[in-house]
Amino acid sequence: MNIGFVGTGTITEAIVTGVLASTLPVTTIHLSPRNKDIAARLAEKSPIVHQEADNQGVVDAAHTVFLAIRPQIAQEVITALRFRPGQKVVSLVATLDPKTLNGWIQQDVHLTQAIPLPFVAERQGVTAIFPPDAEVASFFAALGTAVEAQTKAEYDLLAAASALMGTYFGILETSTRWLESKGLPYEQAKAYLAPLFASLSETAVKSQSRSFAELRLEFSTRGGLNEQASGDFDRNGGSAALEKALDGLLKRIRTE
Ligand SMILES: NC(=O)c1ccc[n+]([C@@H]2O[C@H](COP(=O)([O-])OP(=O)(O)OC[C@H]3O[C@@H](n4cnc5c(N)ncnc54)[C@H](OP(=O)(O)O)[C@@H]3O)[C@@H](O)[C@H]2O)c1
Repeated sequence: MNIGFVGTGTITEAIVTGVLASTLPVTTIHLSPRNKDIAARLAEKSPIVHQEADNQGVVDAAHTVFLAIRPQIAQEVITALRFRPGQKVVSLVATLDPKTLNGWIQQDVHLTQAIPLPFVAERQGVTAIFPPDAEVASFFAALGTAVEAQTKAEYDLLAAASALMGTYFGILETSTRWLESKGLPYEQAKAYLAPLFASLSETAVKSQSRSFAELRLEFSTRGGLNEQASGDFDRNGGSAALEKALDGLLKRIRTE
């Protein structure tokens, strides 16, 4: 397996780090020279990592090319490249519509979209891909798990869900600050809440057959504190605010 990356930034570093620690049969990794420091750091990690002279060098050398540049410069970078007919291209560029991308590529390539998350570095990242593709799915499955969207609509919904990471930490920060305001030192509050939420997530991942609603019931004693808190959260607009945020994300994803 011979892969290349146009754009060597945060997500490329995470993927390459995961790949190097995985059992994937990757023989060569071609990196574009930007960012120089990250490319040099990754090349130092393994002899299979090569820094190419330019973006075209990556496209020419790689069987599968990952597009990992920011959306703002994507058109300029991609329209300057010449791809081979049938070449595998995986776009990681958030909110970039495949029709637009195909128009820029101007070649009959095999295009897949993917949303890897930084956790692929530890091979614990869940990656949404569209359209379903066995090779791309098994690549990302080796870096955690892969979820293949069957339709563009499904993929857009997963993209919306992937944007809840900041909200998650926001809930933790608000809770930690509240505990601090009532007298618990910030570090102690954080040391309590982070493992608590990690255990809840682990329980959800392991409980494939139980819905979140069932877990909520299981973790809320009737008339107890957990039931009181989630009821208050709902009544005070917590759930409605979350739905509104998701609506806003989906609207943006569909129109960009
Ligand atoms: N970070 C994530 O968790 C994540 C997850 C899923 C998808 N994505 C998507 O992946 C893409 C990259 O995100 P990122 O977070 O990795 O961004 P990033 O850290 O800013 O990386 C982008 C890289 O592109 C390089 N670059 C700039 N101009 C270039 C050019 N003309 N040719 C080639 N490379 C060039 C930059 O190099 P310089 O530093 O030298 O400017 C930078 O290293 C985005 O479209 C983002 O939506 C990111």
